[in-house]
Amino acid sequence: MKIAVIGTGYVGLVTGTCFAETGNQVTCVDIDREKVARLQKGEIPIYEPGLDVLFDRNIAEGRLKFTTDLLEGIQDVEVIFLALPTPPGEDGSADLKYILGVANDLGPILGHYVVIIDKSTVPVGTAEKVHAAIVAKATVDFDVVSNPEFLREGVAVEDFMKPDRVVVGTTSDRAKKVMEKLYAPLVRQGNPVIFMDERSAEMTKYAANSFLALKITFMNEIANLCEKVGANVDDIRRGIGTDSRIGKRFLFAGIGYGGSCFPKDVQALAKTSLDYGYDFRTLRSVMSVNNDQKKKLLPVVSEYFEGNLKGKTIAVWGLAFKPYTDDIREAPALENIKALIDAGANITVYDPEAMDNVKKLIPNITYCHTAYAALDDADALMIFTEWPQFRTPDFEKMSKLLKEKVIFDGRNLYELETMRENGFIYYSIGRELVKPVALSV
Ligand code: UDX
Repeated sequence: MKIAVIGTGYVGLVTGTCFAETGNQVTCVDIDREKVARLQKGEIPIYEPGLDVLFDRNIAEGRLKFTTDLLEGIQDVEVIFLALPTPPGEDGSADLKYILGVANDLGPILGHYVVIIDKSTVPVGTAEKVHAAIVAKATVDFDVVSNPEFLREGVAVEDFMKPDRVVVGTTSDRAKKVMEKLYAPLVRQGNPVIFMDERSAEMTKYAANSFLALKITFMNEIANLCEKVGANVDDIRRGIGTDSRIGKRFLFAGIGYGGSCFPKDVQALAKTSLDYGYDFRTLRSVMSVNNDQKKKLLPVVSEYFEGNLKGKTIAVWGLAFKPYTDDIREAPALENIKALIDAGANITVYDPEAMDNVKKLIPNITYCHTAYAALDDADALMIFTEWPQFRTPDFEKMSKLLKEKVIFDGRNLYELETMRENGFIYYSIGRELVKPVALSV
């Protein structure tokens, strides 16, 4: 099929590249000339494992092209994906100016029937708005379909190529046939393409992300309670996750969720609810608990240093909001680092991918080339991202480098017993505090 993807952000690039890989002819369109020039030279502006191989191959084999010219991009295409940003406006609702702007431009230039697909996460009713904007100026038939993405950063290629399900919102039989053809290569294993109306598809995306955010937040609160009653959240997770009604995934307590989706989507769904006169109380709690959770370790650190962080050096492992990405949007590490700086601490950091992004926002801290270099002469270590390389460190080396053997771990990376054996003071989330036992003579 011939496909156009408008918007070469994260979702657009993954969508365009993966559809090229399944044999389609894809043109990605973006108004950013510099970005398009880089893409044409074969440079990917984002870090996403596995994407580079597919990207290079499909450019080389001529299935993936880039342009700034909308008219050129949509020539003879059967489908047009809209993968445009929907940033939160001041009141928390998603701002549709980019999507509706492109819809306005598309109307007069459509030359034949085409299926226009909303891939961005958009509020209920957006497909209708996009339809209205196009129909006002179009001279041909078209359909607008809602087809939300469920891509996790870091594993987006796998999520795209082997989706658990594909959700398609359309009431048009003609569009349905096009969507079936488009997704057939991706659902060969029998995973379903679930058809529903446009509004339900739009709502499905928000419901999925909000539910996952709720699941994490629930575990974070269980963890907070575990600390008080003397229980271990790891055991609770195993104990409840084996119940197939609950499921094992997304039950890891930690320093709060971040990223470009969960915070934005939970906020937007809460706002949509209010717009329709419904107070979605669960979502309000999720947002409020998560805000607190992100700052949870700060008073603990402050108390450890008896309220005085002036001149203390805190080593930080992990800046990205999760591993396998350089994305720092809503990453818990950032507001913690800012608060520590405000309290007078010096910061030394290491992250395998995200340091360049943070340098632009927080220039006045020490960026290190290795995790161990960040520990050199530091008074304590704080961990914010569960990069695999942090999971099995050389504890002896860490002990020698750190001035004080104390770790504040927002991701529960280590077994309590290991920390005890290695003589660390170890704070984690929802588990007992590990303190070296004083030797009795
Ligand atoms: C999410 C959705 O998973 C994806 O389907 C959607 O389309 C986009 O948003 P993403 O934001 O890339 O993907 O990350 P995800 O892996 O879902 O993690 C989100 C946040 O939750 C991270 O901050 C992560 O650290 C946190 N998390 C996740 C936990 O704290 N505990 C968990 O058990 C799982």
